[in-house]
Amino acid sequence: MDIEEMKEEVEEKLKKYKQEHLLNGYENLTDQKKIELLKQLESIDFELINSLYRNMDKEEKENKVKIEPIEYMDKYNLKDKFKYYEQIGEKAIRQGKLAAVTMAGGQGTRLGHKGPKGTFDIGLDSHKSLFELLCDSIKKEGDKYGVIIPWFIMTSEENHDETVKFFEEHKFFGYRKDINIFFFNQGKLPMIDTEGKILIGEDGLVKQAADGHGGVYSALQKNGMLEKMKQMGTEWIYIGGVDNCLAKIVDPVFMGIAIDKGVIGASKSVVKASPKEKVGVFCKKNGRPSIIEYTEISDEMAEATDENGELKYGESNILCHIFKISAIEEMAKKPLPYHVAFKKATYIDKDGNKIVPDSPNAYKFEAFLFDAFGELDDMAVVRVRREEEFAPVKNAEGTDSPETARELYIKLHNK
Ligand code: UD1
Repeated sequence: MDIEEMKEEVEEKLKKYKQEHLLNGYENLTDQKKIELLKQLESIDFELINSLYRNMDKEEKENKVKIEPIEYMDKYNLKDKFKYYEQIGEKAIRQGKLAAVTMAGGQGTRLGHKGPKGTFDIGLDSHKSLFELLCDSIKKEGDKYGVIIPWFIMTSEENHDETVKFFEEHKFFGYRKDINIFFFNQGKLPMIDTEGKILIGEDGLVKQAADGHGGVYSALQKNGMLEKMKQMGTEWIYIGGVDNCLAKIVDPVFMGIAIDKGVIGASKSVVKASPKEKVGVFCKKNGRPSIIEYTEISDEMAEATDENGELKYGESNILCHIFKISAIEEMAKKPLPYHVAFKKATYIDKDGNKIVPDSPNAYKFEAFLFDAFGELDDMAVVRVRREEEFAPVKNAEGTDSPETARELYIKLHNK
């Protein structure tokens, strides 16, 4: 098909979905950009975008869903079973059944850091980045069990090149690219304005944003990562965030519990510090495992306590999960609901002017990986110690800042 034919087809599609403005700047683009734009427009699921816009106010209301606290096990209250689980997990790790995935699609915007969040230096004497701290932990644990744990890093289009360059500059921290370290891109979705119109960015192309970490399952599959893992003999996949410098990626007790319980997924939790702490909490929704995000929990639910005075919904998500490959394949099949965020987005208006907004003007759609947990019949939630496993870096100052993370890191490593 030549470029004119391609354009005609796209025009028809845009007309159908009332998005004709997307070709307003077309004539001013270079030939290469023209093709790029047409290809983008061809691949966009306009039906999905329209329905996301139409249904924005009709988000599932929590009161229609039956929510209950979830059962959990306390890693440090397992008594004589601790060793038992540890042995089961250790055996699987030694057999090379564990691979690690780090979701690193985010930028360090909230931190005031320019660049991929994983490249952030939390201010230790060593000046190691978050990526290097995670890699240190994977390597150390791998050595302990006589294996090299393969490491898969999910990037976004926004930060992919910079991330790979950073790893190149640091010689992949001793890992070997395409042998035991792999990079793959997460999906993206167009941003729309308050009228439901898709935005054009400064580069003349559709303004797209990362589609949230819920895209991790399908991204692992589409990019051939699951296939690679299978060839390597992987059975269990750790999935975690990039910003917890104490993330314990390799944990035989945690794995042993999942294996022994016969579940296909397990998550770690820590006790919520206060009802207002900005963490998601584990629960059961209509009898299935789930998480309610901090932006979506009611005050009443956040403050509810049980007969022991503990928060009813107090098992906090630290973004530390393990899944069987089969569970990932199941979850990749299921379309996830999208959560809406209202953001500031610079764009080119229909007359070709660049608009830099000073307040939010555009909707971004994100799927959350835990919305897929309902696909798992059951999962094990394992409570661990915050001071040993959770030191996130989210804000430039105050709670969950480089300062708090550094303190926790030093304290644990001096122990
Ligand atoms: C997240 C969790 C929250 C949890 C808290 C613990 C979500 C939606 N919420 O909150 O339940 O209690 O961490 O620290 O996850 N990422 C991508 N691609 C994306 C979006 C995010 O790779 O499109 C990655 C980020 O790089 C980061 C992780 O996912 O590693 C978490 O994302 P973030 O948006 O920072 O979540 P929080 O609001 O901190």
